[in-house]
Amino acid sequence: MTTHRKTPLNRRVFIKAAAATLVLGNLPFAAYAASAGAKMKIGLVGSGRVGSALGTTWAKAGHTVMFSSLDLEHDKQLAASIGHGARAGTSREAAAFGDVLVISVPYFALPQVGKDLGALLKGKIVIDTCNPFEQRDGEVGVWARKKGAGLASQELLPGARIVRAFNAIGSARMGTAYQNPGKVGMPIAGDDKQAIEIASGLIRDIGYEPVLVGGLVMGRHLQPREPLAGEHTPDEIRKIAATLK
Ligand SMILES: NC(=O)c1ccc[n+]([C@@H]2O[C@H](COP(=O)([O-])OP(=O)(O)OC[C@H]3O[C@@H](n4cnc5c(N)ncnc54)[C@H](OP(=O)(O)O)[C@@H]3O)[C@@H](O)[C@H]2O)c1
Repeated sequence: MTTHRKTPLNRRVFIKAAAATLVLGNLPFAAYAASAGAKMKIGLVGSGRVGSALGTTWAKAGHTVMFSSLDLEHDKQLAASIGHGARAGTSREAAAFGDVLVISVPYFALPQVGKDLGALLKGKIVIDTCNPFEQRDGEVGVWARKKGAGLASQELLPGARIVRAFNAIGSARMGTAYQNPGKVGMPIAGDDKQAIEIASGLIRDIGYEPVLVGGLVMGRHLQPREPLAGEHTPDEIRKIAATLK
């Protein structure tokens, strides 16, 4: 057990997981979340195309979400348009609120997000959708492409338990997978087993089948214009991932 489990989030998760074990035998938390419908609080930093699509879809799936960005008024309106289960706040409020934090900002903004959130990131499960591009993100983009997006995000968000996901499918499709659950795979990368299980549960909740392609070092393959980009079945993802180093 890691020290992270001392946080209130992880006590809650631990209790849910224990309940899952009682009810469902030895199913992992992800299976419990999907089958027993465990509802979570999800903070979103970045409420643009990706953040708003994911937050809206998770709210519809019964989770409680808090949107944040640089524009609180926008986020209040977004939350009001969704209604029950959605609210808006600052990025620090979203980080404090969320059992899980989803960060969806342009990569050039990630250093600032890391500074703004500071100690709130310690032990926090973070789903990182962010992709570095040299042209859009300048120096940070160049550095992150070289280092690899997973390891770069880890350096910019110290203490966070990062799972890379939703990096290389279009935001317009993010709210549609539930119509055909389990058919579209979601390549993910991370180093923290419990964070991967919890993120996997949330990913399944909106219709994707998560496929772990490796640790954060493999996060560099989860971005546009890479072989894993676009929509693939879970089996196709496993086959492509087996060819990657
Ligand atoms: N678009 C896609 O289809 C897609 C798919 C997969 C992954 N991605 C990646 O996911 C990330 C987000 O993409 P997107 O298309 O959603 O971008 P977007 O539509 O431009 O939205 C970016 C969001 O980040 C917010 N933001 C910027 N700086 C911030 C800061 N310092 N603190 C808090 N919030 C901040 C923006 O707030 P304001 O609007 O208030 O400035 C906006 O809500 C990118 O890294 C992108 O490469 C995109």
